[in-house]
Amino acid sequence: MGKISTNPTSGTLPSGPPGTPSPVTVRSLKLAKDAGRRVTMLTVYDYPTARLLDQAGIDMLLVGDSLGMVVQGHTTTVPVTLSEMIYHGRMVARAAQHAMVVVDLPFPVGQLGVRDTLRKAARVVKQTGCQAVKLEGGAAQADTIAALVDAGIATIAHIGLRPQSVHALGGYRVQRDRERLMQDAEAAVRAGAFAILLECVPEAFAREVTRMVPVPTIGIGAGAGCDGQVLVLHDMLGLGEGRVPRFVRQYANLRSVIDDAVGRYRDDVIAGTFPGAPESFE
Ligand code: KIV
Repeated sequence: MGKISTNPTSGTLPSGPPGTPSPVTVRSLKLAKDAGRRVTMLTVYDYPTARLLDQAGIDMLLVGDSLGMVVQGHTTTVPVTLSEMIYHGRMVARAAQHAMVVVDLPFPVGQLGVRDTLRKAARVVKQTGCQAVKLEGGAAQADTIAALVDAGIATIAHIGLRPQSVHALGGYRVQRDRERLMQDAEAAVRAGAFAILLECVPEAFAREVTRMVPVPTIGIGAGAGCDGQVLVLHDMLGLGEGRVPRFVRQYANLRSVIDDAVGRYRDDVIAGTFPGAPESFE
């Protein structure tokens, strides 16, 4: 399969100091790929955290339907609703001055056929103020992706492991069907997706897709050969419960920080040492 071509773009990925309100765009992301500058993306679901990530210079904020698992306590992303995505998407979009905000289309919005998906994706963009949506799927969703792009909705295609299909896939496993991955990537790019998210695929496959497509690839569990990386924030900050997937690097252990702070507060209240004089009014 040869390299797929699209129209050239102009503009640069804003690279000012953290906190500089210079928006990341579809064009600057394409330029970043061409220049070999890797793209950073993290999931986020609320205003104060989105402010922190935006000010830290993260390029893309993903309001992922992973919120079903890390915020709502479900075991899969399947129960998350469109209204919930809009509710969280609004908070994040309100916070971002630099980063591009991407909102996930929850199950089964991306699979409803062109008309219904377009209607719901338009609602997401209109009501949240996000810059892009992400939908799970590739070749089978090509018509839908093309319709969203034609309607002016910047769209990311999520291929490889598609968590919304966890039951059909028989669990969260590495996806090793190379042909399917290549076909999904090619179809998504031809349909106009401005980026491809690759989840849980062998590193060599992700490198091949990254070489083949002209748009940025963003990997999670897809090795270092992608144009960018994304992680679920709760995983990388050590906020989650239970087993952390092998592809996650934990940059902090906020569970123990919170556990310690809350434990000391509880002890102080019980001992009568909080509040003290400085925390009380005369
Ligand atoms: O919902 C999400 O957080 C995602 C990531 C796994 C990329 O799609």
